[in-house]
Parts: sequence; structure tokens; C-alpha cells
Amino acid sequence: MSYRRALCRERPQMAPPMFIPVFDSAWILIQPSGVYTSQPESTMSEFDRWQGRFAVPEYIFGEEPNVFLASQKDRLPNSGKVLAVADGEGRNGVFLAEQGLDTLSIDFSPYAQAKAQALAKKRGVILRTELADVHNYNWSSEEYDVIAEIFTQFSTPEERKGKFAGIRKALKKGGLLLLEGYTPKQLQYGTGGPKQIEHLYTMDLLEKEFGDFSKVLIKEYDTYMSEGSSHVGMAAVIDLVAWK
Ligand SMILES: C[S@@+](CC[C@H](N)C(=O)[O-])C[C@H]1O[C@@H](n2cnc3c(N)ncnc32)[C@H](O)[C@@H]1O
Repeated sequence: MSYRRALCRERPQMAPPMFIPVFDSAWILIQPSGVYTSQPESTMSEFDRWQGRFAVPEYIFGEEPNVFLASQKDRLPNSGKVLAVADGEGRNGVFLAEQGLDTLSIDFSPYAQAKAQALAKKRGVILRTELADVHNYNWSSEEYDVIAEIFTQFSTPEERKGKFAGIRKALKKGGLLLLEGYTPKQLQYGTGGPKQIEHLYTMDLLEKEFGDFSKVLIKEYDTYMSEGSSHVGMAAVIDLVAWK
């Protein structure tokens, strides 16, 4: 559409910009009438929404690894290949790379991946990044020693089925899956995560998906979270630690 020229209120300070992001609530559209309006969130695609969220200099989920992931440090192998799924700005991928693991960080947001690379550089580690839509991803077979999936509840139940099948396929036999998500109780806290109840995880759901792994630990609890500016406050989470 011809009016789809966007003017940024605060130009992102990231360099190099990989492309000009279009539309998120921080942007203003210039209508042909000359009237400035902000893009209604409901008409925004998920891609645009995430690009918009990441188009700020700060790390919106922080630079430190997710607390659950960091708590699993002793369970990580000394070497091997790791896949960090929908890894965003790379706080978790960088942490895994810092453990001496050959880590691939995938996400569909170029802005997030530029920040992930900048964080890896700052910490002096190599992080491989790949732009990928996990709902249309060519999952490899039995490649990874560890797969981390932290707060990736953007998938509908149908999409999640495909994503989880891909994760199962990509994990080596004996490989470790580390997953954290919100439970439906999180809707009461409202301190992050999706609003759609069917996107959230329950003990039952995770047992159905991964209960056939050789060893499975699942824990559901409430905790105070402080991850960047986006996850702050009490949260209802569920953690899965499972070996295929
Ligand atoms: C809540 S953030 C979590 C990021 C990261 N895992 C962390 O804990 O910091 C969700 C991430 O999913 C990514 N994402 C959303 N939909 C995606 C898709 N279809 N394919 C790949 N990444 C996606 C977003 O870009 C965002 O980085």
C-alpha cells in the first residue's frame, strides 16, 4: 500500500540495521491524508510485532541467561552441539556458548539476531545464528546434544505440534531438552507471555509430548522474575528437563 511509509519516533541505535522494520506500536504511519496514526496492534503480524519490540537498543529480556536455564548448568555436557530455539536477543544462546558448546541460535527476527551477535561479541564467544521461522523449519535429524526452548509460546496448538516434533527429531538419542514456559495461571499475573490460554503449558501437555523420553523432570511453580523490562514480577512457570 502506498501509505506504507513508516516514520520512526525513536530511531533504533543498532548497527548495522539489516532492514527497515515496518510497523509496530512505536512507529507512526503516514496516511495519504497526512494524518499520523499508530498501527493498531491487532493488524500487526507476529513478525512485525517482534521486530518492533526488538528495535530498541536495550535487551528487552536482559543480557543474563534465563534463571532456569542457568540452574541447569551442571547437567550440560562439556562439549557438543546446542540448538537454542526462538532465542531472541541471544541471552540464552550466549550463555550456552560460554559453556564451551557449539551453539546455533535460531529466531525469525533479524533485529533480535543482530543483538544476539553483538552480545556474543561483547562476551567474547562464538554464537552461530540462523534466521528461521520455527513453524517452517527444516529440522535436522539427531544433530543436537542439547536443545533449549525458553519462553517460545507464540505457537498455536497446531503449530506447536510441528515445532515439538521438530525438536524431538533434532535432538540426539540421550540428548537433553531444557524448556521453560508459562502455565495458564500466568494469565492472572499478567507479567509476560501470551494471552491465549491454549498457548500455555500444563504438566499434562508436557507429559503427553515428552513423557516417553528416557528421563523426564517437570516442575510447576510461582516465582519472582526479573528478565529485562519484559518479564518482571510474579510469574507462574513450568520447567521441563528431559533426556531423549
Ligand atoms: C518471549 S521471546 C523469548 C526469546 C528468548 N527465548 C529468551 O528467552 O530471551 C519469543 C521469541 O520468539 C521469536 N519468535 C516468535 N515467533 C517465531 C517463529 N515463528 N519462528 C522463530 N522465532 C519466533 C521472537 O522473535 C522472540 O525472539
